[in-house]
Amino acid sequence: MFWLHAAMADHEHAARWAAEAIRRLDAEREHAPPTPLVRFPLPGDWDVTLWFKDESAHPTGNLKHRAARALFRHSVASGRVTEGTSVVEATGGGAALSQAYFARMLGLPYTAVMPGAPDPARAAPVKELGGDCCFVTPPLAVYEEARRLADDTGACYLDQFTWAERTLDWRGDDLAGELFGQLAGPPAWLVVGAGTGATSASLGRHIRSHGLPTRLAVVDPENSAYFPGWVTGAHDYATGMPSRIEGIGRPRMEPGFLPSLVDLMVTVPDAASVAAARAFRAATGCPVGGSTGTNLWGALHLVAAMRERGERGTVVSLVCDAGDRPLRTVHSDGWARDKDLDPAPFAERIDRFLDGGPWE
Ligand SMILES: Cc1ncc(COP(=O)(O)O)c(C=O)c1O
Repeated sequence: MFWLHAAMADHEHAARWAAEAIRRLDAEREHAPPTPLVRFPLPGDWDVTLWFKDESAHPTGNLKHRAARALFRHSVASGRVTEGTSVVEATGGGAALSQAYFARMLGLPYTAVMPGAPDPARAAPVKELGGDCCFVTPPLAVYEEARRLADDTGACYLDQFTWAERTLDWRGDDLAGELFGQLAGPPAWLVVGAGTGATSASLGRHIRSHGLPTRLAVVDPENSAYFPGWVTGAHDYATGMPSRIEGIGRPRMEPGFLPSLVDLMVTVPDAASVAAARAFRAATGCPVGGSTGTNLWGALHLVAAMRERGERGTVVSLVCDAGDRPLRTVHSDGWARDKDLDPAPFAERIDRFLDGGPWE
């Protein structure tokens, strides 16, 4: 009898903790203002408008904020994360910041396993949020290392590549619902990149479940398996090569990337992503990351196609991250040289197009 009482008391305590954790996560979402729409200036006589939903406006400055909140909510609701659970994730950047933020909100220890050589500049913002970082080479070993670390220490491996697509809301008022609610009508195209695939999956599901006429384009950087996997229908396609554009492009088809929801894929040279990130900054003042450049390049490609066909309408994409890190990377000539990227010919192509010239 004593044991039964003790077990019930433990259960009640755990349930109270979980309820409070969910309440905090939901309150953070409810109190967050919608991220703003930023208009990318196109020539006034064009019948096409280009908007970017600025996901860098989240408290952790990037697109992963919503996904991190959803992952924690799902992990708590599923009992994978309980009071005091240490949390581990394999991530190169933005996700680590967002996850450290929510781990701190719930009073949980957090470790990001990052690819590459130790880099204090990448670790510092995670540490400021109370998290820890460890670095792993070769970079593709991060996933195994994160799983091993979690197994060895009894931590929860959050595993965004498995879970983010299932946990990010597509029915209600998270990214998809919020975005469509801000627009006067459904856009002709949505343009996004894919890392875990959760963002494109949530938008694609929203479009289908509401019967919207909007089409979904996914932009893909060099070395990524997503484009060849989408074209060939091979769900196990792998390039084995890491992407140079942070946050998007994967060496293999990930389970969270749902090709059946994607109407078009646009491959984007990495130097074009850099040129477009710089063009976005020149036009709006916002120092966006490389993946927003990839989005802009893909969006301009679609704007050009619409103009050629005489279509009018709206193209919408996302600002995925912005700030200090992009200033040290894609906006720095030294970084581009180190990566062997020459954005100049692509910058000329953007300028020519926005001056009324052809896209090709
Ligand atoms: C910085 C960054 N992280 C992640 C992603 C991809 O998100 P997801 O993991 O939902 O596919 C993007 C997509 O554009 C991005 O720019």
